[in-house]
Amino acid sequence: MKRIAILLFALMLMSGSLAEGVLVTYFSHAGENYNVGVIEEGNTAKLAKVIAEQTGAELFEIVPVVDYPHSYDECLEVATAEQRKGARPEYVGDVENWDQYDTVFIGYPIWWGEIPNIVYTFMENHDFAGKTVIPFNTHEGSGQSHSQRDIEKTLPGATVLKGLAVRGATAQNDADATSKAVSDWLSGLGM
Ligand SMILES: Cc1cc2nc3c(=O)[nH]c(=O)nc-3n(C[C@H](O)[C@H](O)[C@H](O)COP(=O)(O)O)c2cc1C
Repeated sequence: MKRIAILLFALMLMSGSLAEGVLVTYFSHAGENYNVGVIEEGNTAKLAKVIAEQTGAELFEIVPVVDYPHSYDECLEVATAEQRKGARPEYVGDVENWDQYDTVFIGYPIWWGEIPNIVYTFMENHDFAGKTVIPFNTHEGSGQSHSQRDIEKTLPGATVLKGLAVRGATAQNDADATSKAVSDWLSGLGM
């Protein structure tokens, strides 16, 4: 009996059906942005990489099929139009082996007080039942806005832990402060 149990456990490990992985998925927009000028790598992308480094997680970037405009003002307009329409913009590719992750960090910038629509596309495309979800975001004054609640509403089957909000300019320009904010937050979560 014991041998069968060990064999089953080994098979589950080999097939990846024991969910124990950690994934950091994020959307972030490089180009011209508020308070940071023209950036090569988005603020949330920088924050995501610090979280992945400190947790040993895999990374998945939500890359839009149709790029958002480089110009800040034009991007504001596109975001407004998407929010008004409830758009679900497509992204490139997808996470491989979704079932192997039991913890999923979800990162995004705050856009007009909201989670960008493309992040809703991602959330709606996946089954989060039984997973632990941990939000993080960058912003320039809105903090988390109401995004924690919005994620809880969108993913009712998941356990959603307290998210982290970091100023975009801090994530972009102050690696030490970002690293400390992440490590304090993770230890507060017991991770
Ligand atoms: C379309 C758009 C709307 C934004 N709306 C807000 C907002 O409502 N509140 C806020 O604090 N920051 C807002 N910002 C600033 C971004 O949240 C901030 O610059 C963030 O760090 C950008 O992250 P990213 O570089 O990963 O895209 C907005 C930026 C854009 C482009």
